[in-house]
Amino acid sequence: MNRAAWDEHARQRQDFETPTPSPAPGRMHWTQHMSDGPGAEILGDLGGATVVELGCGAGHHLAHLVAYRGARVMGVDIARGQIARARARYGHLPGVAFTAGDAVEFLTKTEMKFDACYSVFGAVGLTPPDLLLPAITDTLRPRGLLAFSVPHPDRRGRLMRDTLILPFGNRLPIQRWEPAVSAWPSLLARAGLRVQDLHEVSNASANPLTLIITARSL
Ligand SMILES: C[S@@+](CC[C@H](N)C(=O)[O-])C[C@H]1O[C@@H](n2cnc3c(N)ncnc32)[C@H](O)[C@@H]1O
Repeated sequence: MNRAAWDEHARQRQDFETPTPSPAPGRMHWTQHMSDGPGAEILGDLGGATVVELGCGAGHHLAHLVAYRGARVMGVDIARGQIARARARYGHLPGVAFTAGDAVEFLTKTEMKFDACYSVFGAVGLTPPDLLLPAITDTLRPRGLLAFSVPHPDRRGRLMRDTLILPFGNRLPIQRWEPAVSAWPSLLARAGLRVQDLHEVSNASANPLTLIITARSL
């Protein structure tokens, strides 16, 4: 169900854009609102680090990390169309690689080891955490970093739990995994990850919008 929805999402995007090689964005964001929340600094010093993004979409965040933070990066996305968009835009940057596939399948098959793994509204939250988190831990180096942002589980309003709104405005069913804020530390601990920071981003009316968590492997 999720793969079909994200494939269609990417197909619609490709219908009205023709990406060309582009410069990397000057910063990265963890929320849906470009003006708020932290940037790449929460990933720490990435000079020479090997980093993977799970659910990289069009690759904007990875491009920033390679161009401004000196990382070597791998982007994984379940939708082939997203990987095509990412390659067209940022495939020319040295130190960037993209691969199409499900995050858990990629992590369980790869022989690569990562200093950091992250997801911005990507595979974390769109994949069962009891499968994804241990697979992440297995590919992280000791004291490696996991960072992710997800829609806040207590949010109100537009971002629906079981529906993906597509670029053309129609909708498809989707499955999300949205543990309560208080459940994340034990979920992560069961996978061998210790929470380092937990950051809740709210709007001006104090409604929670985004949950950002960083954790380290033991
Ligand atoms: C809301 S988009 C976010 C894209 C990107 N992280 C960004 O911030 O622009 C979610 C992305 O996750 C991808 N995705 C969903 N489930 C996935 C999975 N199980 N494995 C890998 N990618 C997945 C989708 O195809 C989509 O590109």
